[in-house]
Amino acid sequence: SWTMEGIIDQKVEEIRQQVGSRKVILALSGGVDSSVVAALVHRAIGDQLTCVFVNHGMLRKGEPEMVEEVFREQFHMPLVHVHAEERYAKMLAGVTDPEKKRRLIGTEFWKVFFDEAQKIGDVEMLAQGTIYPDIIESGARKTGGKAATIKSHHNLIPFPEGVHFDLIEPLDHFFKDEVRELGIALGLPAKMVWRQPFPGPGLAIRIIGEVTPEKLAILKDADAIVREELDAYNQRLFEETGDRNSEHACWQYFAVLPDIRSVGVMGDERTYRRPIIVRAVESTDAMTADWAKLPYDVIGRISSRIVDEVDGVNRVVYDVTPKPPATIEWE
Ligand code: XMP
Repeated sequence: SWTMEGIIDQKVEEIRQQVGSRKVILALSGGVDSSVVAALVHRAIGDQLTCVFVNHGMLRKGEPEMVEEVFREQFHMPLVHVHAEERYAKMLAGVTDPEKKRRLIGTEFWKVFFDEAQKIGDVEMLAQGTIYPDIIESGARKTGGKAATIKSHHNLIPFPEGVHFDLIEPLDHFFKDEVRELGIALGLPAKMVWRQPFPGPGLAIRIIGEVTPEKLAILKDADAIVREELDAYNQRLFEETGDRNSEHACWQYFAVLPDIRSVGVMGDERTYRRPIIVRAVESTDAMTADWAKLPYDVIGRISSRIVDEVDGVNRVVYDVTPKPPATIEWE
């Protein structure tokens, strides 16, 4: 609509004023907020913006490819795709404690990111996808452009010593729905703009216990099936009700891999394989959530597809716990 175009024009003008001729860097995750900021800032200053995509290997199936496709192929942005998969795999070997996993992944993420910023050279500004609710949530105060911390939903990561960036946060007055609208107006694909929340530490906190390549492979495949089936379920509800936030639509849904095995039978053979936990919740803000009352046929199809299509899995269970007392994620 022309109002969105008007807002974009105004933001573009503001960003140009603020940036001048300086270089800007942005940590692109493929999430809604960072993607929209990338598209907006790129429209304003073009190749003065470099996006750095740190691939820690624990993203969902198809995600790195989508980031490449949208930002490199479609938008032609300077995009640095950092393949940190092996570095992370080594770092996480033997680590089982959830908080330790989170800490290691977060700390390493910013180390990798700032290393890349150094390589680009003369970068003075950092663009971030901070949105209005983030500011309210963290009670963050603006400090005249020089902020001491980086937004990260659950972890506040300080800049390394001696590192300074002027921040540019063009979405800091927007709500999530407005950010999505902005994204569509900027030409981002719907599947990116409607992406569900995904934790920074990624699949690592959906693998209970040690993260291994074998477990990662199982979880990626099972998770892709859960998302495919529940995307389709949400889409059917949307077509019936015309409402994306229909009461029975799932808000977040994914697979979890626990650190146990169970006995099963295939043909005449005993199996001793892994279970997959399906988590699907209804929520508006993630502060509270309820397990989604999915139709049995939907749950049944997810289950049979996972045991048929994913090697090493012989059982599927559904998590029927609200938040509180559980959390949405398992770690
Ligand atoms: P919990 O598990 O605390 O999750 O009920 C609430 C929401 O936050 C997401 N989540 C994260 N998001 N970085 C993020 O950006 C994180 O480290 C993180 N951990 C959890 C979770 O997916 C849910 O939507």
